[in-house]
Amino acid sequence: MKDRYKFIGPAYDFLSSIYGGESIHNCKRAMLDTEHVKPGDKILIAGVGHGKDAIKAAELGADVTVVDLSETMLRKFKEAVDKHPDNLDIRQIHSDILKFEEFEQYDMVIANFFLNVFSEEMMLEILRHLMKCAKPKANVVIGDFEYPSGNIINRTLQKAYWYGAVSIFWVVANNAMHNIYNYPEIMKELGLTIKDKKQFRFLGLNCYWSIMGQKQA
Ligand SMILES: C[S@@+](CC[C@H](N)C(=O)[O-])C[C@H]1O[C@@H](n2cnc3c(N)ncnc32)[C@H](O)[C@@H]1O
Repeated sequence: MKDRYKFIGPAYDFLSSIYGGESIHNCKRAMLDTEHVKPGDKILIAGVGHGKDAIKAAELGADVTVVDLSETMLRKFKEAVDKHPDNLDIRQIHSDILKFEEFEQYDMVIANFFLNVFSEEMMLEILRHLMKCAKPKANVVIGDFEYPSGNIINRTLQKAYWYGAVSIFWVVANNAMHNIYNYPEIMKELGLTIKDKKQFRFLGLNCYWSIMGQKQA
């Protein structure tokens, strides 16, 4: 299995901080609070990367499983867990998310800056798969680049900001090149009810958002 994050993986979170300040990290943890997570909740984090979100979920007492295809990313994640002062017990799975088939098991399924890696067709297949892993009435959370809105200057700047990031990852990790996905609309089309949406600004622009959708009963 080729590790597409072998070279950029070790510096991934550092590069995120340069590209988006704290706003990217805040976006990833946006729905991880005592309002949305109860101790013992089962949470799945797909494409976990360095996993600040997974660590936050475990700190809240959730029973966390993370899945990632990259050995490099999982190694960085393990280092972060090992450095944590609490003895966090987080289940780590090295797999393609589509081969992870724990259906209807999770109270919350999180895809932070994960779905944007894929072409639209694959993104939809993966989102449907993640929804299958969620229990009935569970929450599915997507944190990612915000769909451009506002006046033409704002929209142009948001698009330019996205194309800067996607071009870098297209070159270094062979990610798909595409427009920004409109996640709330996609989530609604797939049958999720939007329950919460939080926006994160950087350089005066609404660059990121976290959207929580609830699966039907
Ligand atoms: C852009 S990074 C985002 C990492 C992390 N979620 C974050 O917000 O920092 C995408 C992650 O998805 C992982 N990934 C890509 N394709 C995958 C797949 N098919 N199954 C599981 N993980 C995958 C990559 O290895 C990488 O860690």
